[in-house]
Amino acid sequence: MTAVDDVKSRLDIVEIISQRVPLQRSGNSYKAPCPFHQEKTPSFHVFPDRQSWRCFGACATGGDVLSFVMKAEGLEFGEALKQMAQVAGVTLPQRGQNPQNEAAYKINEDTRAYFQRTLASAQGVSTREYLEKRGVDKQAIEAFGVGLSPSDGESLKNHLIREGYSPEELVSAGVVRVGDDGVSHDLFRGRLMFPIRDAHGNLVGFGARTLDGTEPKYLNSPQGPMFDKSRILYAMDRARTGVRKNGAVIVEGYMDAIAAHQAGFKNVIAQMGTALTEFQVDEIRRLTGKMTMALDQDAAGQNATLRSLDVVLQNFRTKTVNKQRPDGTTQTVDADPRIIVMPPGQDPDEVIHRSPSDWTNLVESAIPAITFRINAITGRGDLTSPEGKARCVAEAAPFIHLLAGGIQQANAIEQLAGNLSVPIDTVKAALSRPSVARRTRQPEQPRSAASTASPFAKLDHDPMEEYCLQLLLGHPEVREMAGGLRPEFFTRHENRELFARWLDVGPGMDKDKTLAAVRRDGDDEVTAQLKTLTEKPMIPSDATGRAKSLAEVVTRLEERNLKNLKMEEVKRFADSPPDVEDGEQDDILLLNEQIKKNEGLRRGQAQEISG
Ligand code: CTP
Ligand code: MN
Repeated sequence: MTAVDDVKSRLDIVEIISQRVPLQRSGNSYKAPCPFHQEKTPSFHVFPDRQSWRCFGACATGGDVLSFVMKAEGLEFGEALKQMAQVAGVTLPQRGQNPQNEAAYKINEDTRAYFQRTLASAQGVSTREYLEKRGVDKQAIEAFGVGLSPSDGESLKNHLIREGYSPEELVSAGVVRVGDDGVSHDLFRGRLMFPIRDAHGNLVGFGARTLDGTEPKYLNSPQGPMFDKSRILYAMDRARTGVRKNGAVIVEGYMDAIAAHQAGFKNVIAQMGTALTEFQVDEIRRLTGKMTMALDQDAAGQNATLRSLDVVLQNFRTKTVNKQRPDGTTQTVDADPRIIVMPPGQDPDEVIHRSPSDWTNLVESAIPAITFRINAITGRGDLTSPEGKARCVAEAAPFIHLLAGGIQQANAIEQLAGNLSVPIDTVKAALSRPSVARRTRQPEQPRSAASTASPFAKLDHDPMEEYCLQLLLGHPEVREMAGGLRPEFFTRHENRELFARWLDVGPGMDKDKTLAAVRRDGDDEVTAQLKTLTEKPMIPSDATGRAKSLAEVVTRLEERNLKNLKMEEVKRFADSPPDVEDGEQDDILLLNEQIKKNEGLRRGQAQEISG
C-alpha cells in the first residue's frame, strides 16, 4: 500500500469534511451547500462508501479526502497529504522519487562538482578572468554552481567511471555522448557550465556557453523527459520566495538571471531563450498574479514575440489567491502581466551590473502587456485615415475577444480608442460589428492567438489526451481523481471513444481487467490507438506523482474544452451575417464568465496540487 492509500484508509471522509461543512444525511450519502461556490440548494455530496465527494452544481468537481482538503484549505497536494497524515497518525516516507531520475540527478551533481573544480583549477584561469570581466562575483559563481567543462572530451567521463558509474548510465544521464565512431566522449568541452535545476532544485541538466566562439553559442543537455526546456524556468528553485513576495520578473538568459540574483533581485527567472509556454506561465501563475517580462528591443515587435505574448495574456488572466475567504471559497484576482522593452542593444545583465537602480526603474516602469500589445498594433497601422484606424480595430479584434471579459477587455478597448483618437463607443461598436470581426480572419492579418496558442495544434495526435488516457488505463487506482473528466474534453475521436469505454468499465478493476474491458473488436483506429498507448513508455512515477499529474491534466483538458467552446463562439460571431441579433455577443461574454469562474474553481485545485 502506498503512503497515500495508507493515509486515506485510516480517515473517514465524512468526519473530515463535516469538520468544515455542515453535512446532512440523505440516504446513503451526505449533502450540504457546496463550500466551493455560492448556492442555496445543496448540491455538494459526500459518499461514505466510496470515500469520495462531489459537487453536482456549478463547480462539477469531486475527488477524495485529499483533494477536498487541498481545495478547502488552499493547500498543495503534498501539504494536504502531510496534514492528513498527521490526523491519521501515519509517518510519511521521505519524498519518494523515481529511481532512474534520482540516479541521473546524482550523476549531474557529481558532474557539476567536477566542472566547479575544473573552473577553480589552473585550467580555469582565463574563464575566471572572463567571469570577473562580466561582473559575476565569487558568491554568485558558487551559488549558481557555475563551472568549466574540460576541453579534452575525456576527463569527465573518466572521472565518473572512476567514481563507479557505468558508461551507459553516463550516456542516459546526458553528460556523455556516443559519437558516430561509436566511441563515447564528454558532451560538453571547454564551455562555461550553468547547472539547470527544476523548480524543486533537482539538477536536470546543463547550459553550456562557448568561450571561444565555437557554435552553437549555447549547448544544452539533450532534451528529454528530465530536461525539458519548455517546462523549466531557470533559477525558479531559488526565486520561488522572491516571486511569491514581489511577483516574477522574467529575463532571457542565464547571465541575466545570475546578475539579477547577485544584485539582490531575488524574484528573477529566465526563460532560456525560447518563447514562454503555457506550462511555464501556469507555473508562475501559481505563485503570483504579477509577472513582468523583459523583452529584447529587437524581438519586441516581432510577430513571434507578439504571439508568445498572447499565450501569456490568455493564460495569465486570473489567479486564484491561496488565501481563502471565511466562507471557504477561493478568491480570484485579475493578473497583471507587464512588459519591459529593454533599451536598444542592452541586456538585463549589462543594465544590472552597470546600475541596479536603472534596473529597478525599468521594472517599475514596465507597461501592461495589454497596452504593449495594442501599441504594437497601432504602432504599425496607418492612423491618418479612418480606413487605417478601422484596420487597427479589426486587427485587435481577435485578441480583444480572447481576453477575459470585464476589466481586461475594457482596458484594451480604452487603450485602443486612445491610441486611435476615437471615442470608446466607436471602437466598441466597431468591435461588435460582424464585418469587423470577419475582416480579422483574412489571411494577411496576424494569426489569432488561439490558433497558435496550443503547441499541439499541428500534431496528428494529441499528447495531452494521450497522457491522460495512459494514466487512466495503466493505473486504475487514479479513477477517483478523474471525477471531473468528460468525454467532450477529448477532441480526437479515438481518444474520446477510449475514454467512453474506460468510463463503462467502472471502478474496482485492476489494470489487466481494465484493458481487457476496453479492448473491443472493430474500429481499427481505436484499436491501433489503444495499442500505441499501452506500448508507449510512460515517465516513471509513483502514486503521488501520478495523482498530481492526473489532476493537472484533467484541469488542463477542461480548460481547453472551455477555450475551444469560446473559440467556436467567437467564430460563429465572426461568420454570422451583418444583421445578426445583438444577443450573439452575450454568448461570448457568458462563456468568458464561465471560463473565469471555472478557472477560479479548478485552478485552485491545479495550483495546490502541483505547486
Ligand atoms: N540560448 C540557448 N541556445 C542558444 C542561444 C541562446 O539555449 N543557441 C538561451 C540561453 O538560455 C541563453 C538565452 O537563450 O542564456 C539568451 O541568449 P543570449 O542573449 O544569446 O545569451 P546570454 O545569456 O545573454 O549570454 P551572453 O550575455 O553571455 O551573451
Ligand atoms: Mn547577455
